[in-house]
Amino acid sequence: MSRTRIVVLISGTGTLLQALLDASADPHYPAEVVGVIADSPGAAGLQRARAAGIPALPVAIAGYPDRGAWDVALRDALESFEPDWVVSAGFMRILGPQVLASYPMRVVNTHPALLPSFPGAHAVRDALDHGVRVTGSTIHLVDEGVDTGPIVDQRPVRVEPDDDEASLHERIKVVERELLVDVVRRLSTHNVHISGRKVTLA
Ligand code: GRF
Repeated sequence: MSRTRIVVLISGTGTLLQALLDASADPHYPAEVVGVIADSPGAAGLQRARAAGIPALPVAIAGYPDRGAWDVALRDALESFEPDWVVSAGFMRILGPQVLASYPMRVVNTHPALLPSFPGAHAVRDALDHGVRVTGSTIHLVDEGVDTGPIVDQRPVRVEPDDDEASLHERIKVVERELLVDVVRRLSTHNVHISGRKVTLA
């Protein structure tokens, strides 16, 4: 039986990607990573994909005259893999309208805070600076906003008194990796029902 096809978008070290690569190495896991796309050729996560024998390529904004052209190029690169789901795992770019139109409510993003608290690119620092005692990980469907799409699942992470941004982010990433593997498993084995902001997997 063919497994659910996942393409993963990355920008950095790719440890969340690695969690999905490790999970999909088990033939009983219901999804397989069929491609990896980074927003720059230097993303270390590209090497993780290549080491796993998964096609991996950069689609860098710098390579295009404007964001619109990059949006089209990213959509075309995604379509070449024929994904069922697109997983943004540490992808630090806002997806454009062409990508979202090709995969409406078929893109999930993982965010290192409990949305709607602390959206944006500095979630861990912002949570720490605000003095929260609990933060966590959110996985949500991607819409045209920034970290605004309907929430699929969340998990809490306590903030320790001696935490700095790096230590807290690393503890969040441990939870993110577990949650991401679990959510992709459920997306691959359930139908997704969206009613307003409520997402139900059944
Ligand atoms: C994750 O915490 C993700 O939520 C955030 O960047 C981190 C990516 O980590 N956007 P890695 O590159 O997968 O190690």
